[in-house]
Amino acid sequence: MRLANKVAIVTGGSRGIGLAIARRFASEGAAVVVGDLDLEAARLAAAELEKLGVGAEAVKCDVAQTEDAELLASHALNRFGRIDILVNNAGITRDRLLLRMSESDWDVVIAVNLKGAFNCTKAVAKTMLRQRSGRIINIASVVGLIGNAGQANYAASKAGVIGLTKSLAREMAGRNITVNAIAPGFIETKMTEDLPESVRQAFMSRIPLGRAGTPEDVANAALFLASDESSYITGQVICVDGGMVM
Ligand code: NAI
Repeated sequence: MRLANKVAIVTGGSRGIGLAIARRFASEGAAVVVGDLDLEAARLAAAELEKLGVGAEAVKCDVAQTEDAELLASHALNRFGRIDILVNNAGITRDRLLLRMSESDWDVVIAVNLKGAFNCTKAVAKTMLRQRSGRIINIASVVGLIGNAGQANYAASKAGVIGLTKSLAREMAGRNITVNAIAPGFIETKMTEDLPESVRQAFMSRIPLGRAGTPEDVANAALFLASDESSYITGQVICVDGGMVM
């Protein structure tokens, strides 16, 4: 029970990587608040987490909206009395080559992936600063490190998340709050299931470990960053990518 008595918020926690993280945290004793655009799916996730014997709550929220992020944090605080861990996981893609990328393709990806992480972090910051402890885990991507044709908006948002991570790690270290990022590589989720076979094969050929990752692979890294075992680690980007980027 590495997270006994801890309270975690996981954005985009109703499926994919976010759900795997929520499950992993709950299995280690954390109460989990699942914030997601899709309230029905979030409710199903929370009901599943409760079966693991922890408190769980579903909150409808669009992380791109400041008020929604504030509502998410206040729900967690009102129900559980503290916030120990925030996982900024909600993310979207609108992949197109630059000349076909519309202004709205750009704006919405930056709003959800980058501003969403800012909004939610700001919403929990006061509580964590007051508690003089906290863990913030941002789900970035390897493409935020190396770029990817067709993903200028997404890669820029994830590179932004890495800059946000390092800046806030410096800002909040004095209050015992760590801020780290995980950069997943190619993980089997809804986000990647619709990719054309040629793109999938191109990714596979670049993975030394020779397989796609699972949401659980990412969740294991998140658990480490949320646990006491990582208390001397901040401002880092951990690639969970089968060796794709090294
Ligand atoms: P997914 O598409 O399966 O799940 C995303 C979740 O976020 C969904 O539950 C969705 O409803 C929610 N969501 C979307 N927009 C939201 C918003 N505005 N506010 C609140 N919730 C919102 O995606 P997946 O694959 O689980 O991705 C999770 C994170 O991991 C994302 O940040 C993604 O960029 C990142 N990632 C995924 C990789 C992959 O290969 N699947 C690789 C690298 C990073």
